[in-house]
Amino acid sequence: MALKPREAARGASFVDRNAFLRFTAALFEARPTPSGLGRRIASGVLAPLLYQPTDSEPEEYNKWYYNTNVWKKTTWMGIDCWKSVSDLWNYQEILFDLKPSLVVEFGTNQGGSALFFASVMRQIGETFKVLSVDINHKALDPAARRDPDIVFVESRSTIPAIAEHIRRLRSEFPGKVFAILDSDHSRDHVLAEMKLLRPLLSAGDYLLVEDSMLNGHPNLPGWGPGPYEAIEAYEHEFPTDYTHDVARENKFGWTFAPNGFLIRN
Ligand SMILES: C[S@@+](CC[C@H](N)C(=O)[O-])C[C@H]1O[C@@H](n2cnc3c(N)ncnc32)[C@H](O)[C@@H]1O
Repeated sequence: MALKPREAARGASFVDRNAFLRFTAALFEARPTPSGLGRRIASGVLAPLLYQPTDSEPEEYNKWYYNTNVWKKTTWMGIDCWKSVSDLWNYQEILFDLKPSLVVEFGTNQGGSALFFASVMRQIGETFKVLSVDINHKALDPAARRDPDIVFVESRSTIPAIAEHIRRLRSEFPGKVFAILDSDHSRDHVLAEMKLLRPLLSAGDYLLVEDSMLNGHPNLPGWGPGPYEAIEAYEHEFPTDYTHDVARENKFGWTFAPNGFLIRN
């Protein structure tokens, strides 16, 4: 039986208050004004107050997203782009705000993510280059390979020649750097990539360490030390190098890169 508003509000605890608000919303829903104002208030103003998360939704969705392999069926302009779509949207927002002149990606695969970065950067409209490094470019899609704004380098990501290449591109394209680590996801390899980038990144540059959701954060528990543990190890050694961009990391409620949104100090 529905409560009267006054009954619902009397001696209201937090839950009671929500029950009252729920009732009010139902009232508005049931009797919209001719202008639809009631309905708009109910859905726009009250809905966020009425929502009661259990706090397990982000983790469950993260697990669902990973374990159904939907990320493996995600494409950009027809080319595989193995990311969560909310992370991609987040990257687009970061790129727009940061306006880097150089994007460095470790781990190309088919090239969908490199093409995504190049597409966003072109739309921003300032001079830029994308460098995408992979140990093996056999999977690289010809359409991505033809992109004039992307330099593809077939190499291990952690060798000094890659550091030299980044240094050269930095001086050719002065400005901010957005770097993203998405190659071999073992702790030691990611740690080596972070250390390679240490002298190459400057204050305000952005580092995204992908797939730190492995090894039970929350996916694939038992996978073994991965990117999450690499970030921990790096921060143990160099505690003042980065500030965590917590607001962006939490913006969409979940990410494949927990703890991995880093701004160079
Ligand atoms: C997860 S995939 C990259 C996905 C791609 N960034 C995307 O979003 O679609 C990882 C890639 O890292 C490459 N890789 C593995 N070990 C590597 C290494 N030591 N150095 C550079 N690339 C490596 C693999 O060949 C593979 O193509």
